[in-house]
Amino acid sequence: QTRVLTGITTTGTPHLGNYAGAIRPAIAASRRGDVDAFFFLADYHALIKSDDAARIERSRLEIAATWLAAGLDPARVTFYRQSDIPEIPELTWFLTCVTAKGLLNRAHAYKAAMDKNVEAGEDPDAGVTAGLYMYPVLMAADILAFDAHKVPVGRDQIQHLEMARDIAQRFNHLHGRDFFVLPEVQIEEEVATLPGLDGRKMSKSYDNTIPLFAGGAKALREAVMRIVTDSRAPGEPKDPDSSALYTIFRAFADPAESAAFRQALLDGIGWGEAKQRLFERIETDVAPMRERYEALIAKPDEIEAILRDGAAKARAIATPKLAAIRDAIGLRAMG
Ligand code: TYM
Repeated sequence: QTRVLTGITTTGTPHLGNYAGAIRPAIAASRRGDVDAFFFLADYHALIKSDDAARIERSRLEIAATWLAAGLDPARVTFYRQSDIPEIPELTWFLTCVTAKGLLNRAHAYKAAMDKNVEAGEDPDAGVTAGLYMYPVLMAADILAFDAHKVPVGRDQIQHLEMARDIAQRFNHLHGRDFFVLPEVQIEEEVATLPGLDGRKMSKSYDNTIPLFAGGAKALREAVMRIVTDSRAPGEPKDPDSSALYTIFRAFADPAESAAFRQALLDGIGWGEAKQRLFERIETDVAPMRERYEALIAKPDEIEAILRDGAAKARAIATPKLAAIRDAIGLRAMG
């Protein structure tokens, strides 16, 4: 069976990009009988991005409820919190010791933080934590602890997957065995990068996100109305291929609906009306999930119980895996 694994960092509130780019395809995959799915809340990764405890706590609950509302079935999927699996930080250290510093020097996330400082005329290291630097190793441990074959993610995570493979290969080479499965990245081509309000990638860090559930239908509609468009008037043909509206529409529609929307743009539908159609298309999918979400978020103890069960299932794999690794690297029990 193919093991599929993916995670979401628990900072902030889930947005349409997380849903269409990660949650929806992951759940669809988990419903096919032939995969063994591992989905988790990356709350250790959240500590790299935020020191706001209340925000992380809230975000964990919201993201857990989002996965469940979107159709994750905890009986079929191993659904857990990273911080409930002590084998992950343990493996992170073992991998750290075989990871070339030069590899981490090339990581986009860390380089972006340094570049920003340089541009601002500051010390390149200002505010850059060792946690940010080590981010790819923690992510490699998430994946390698469970020998995942496929990792469905958005394009922004491709480099991290390449690094996880590099680190796994290095470890396998050093210890002369196929310890770790080499994970493969899986990108949903149609929706690989959902644009945000300003047309750039939808991202918490650009503050251009469209919330999935937060604020209800009203907030969703308001956000859709704020998507940036060009200044073409109603009646003038619009270019679907340069329009974030069309890209987002396609991520929520079947091919026939997308073709009709495309034609409407070419025929000169006004931006206001196009936005209303986009809102209605998204809302049709989101409304029933939002109802389940509201019910779930009111029962955090039920979510807690689901996550604890998931952690037990996950550790049943990770504990023996780590025992084998300790043996191999010279940390075997004496005598
Ligand atoms: P995170 O929390 O930033 O994003 C979660 C997932 O959503 C995808 N994504 C998008 N996809 C399409 N369009 C967008 N605009 C968009 N924005 C975000 C991301 O690519 C990701 O798949 N490091 C990871 C979390 C993580 C992880 C892992 C993932 C930690 N360990 C192990 C897979 C395997 C992250 O910060 O994702």
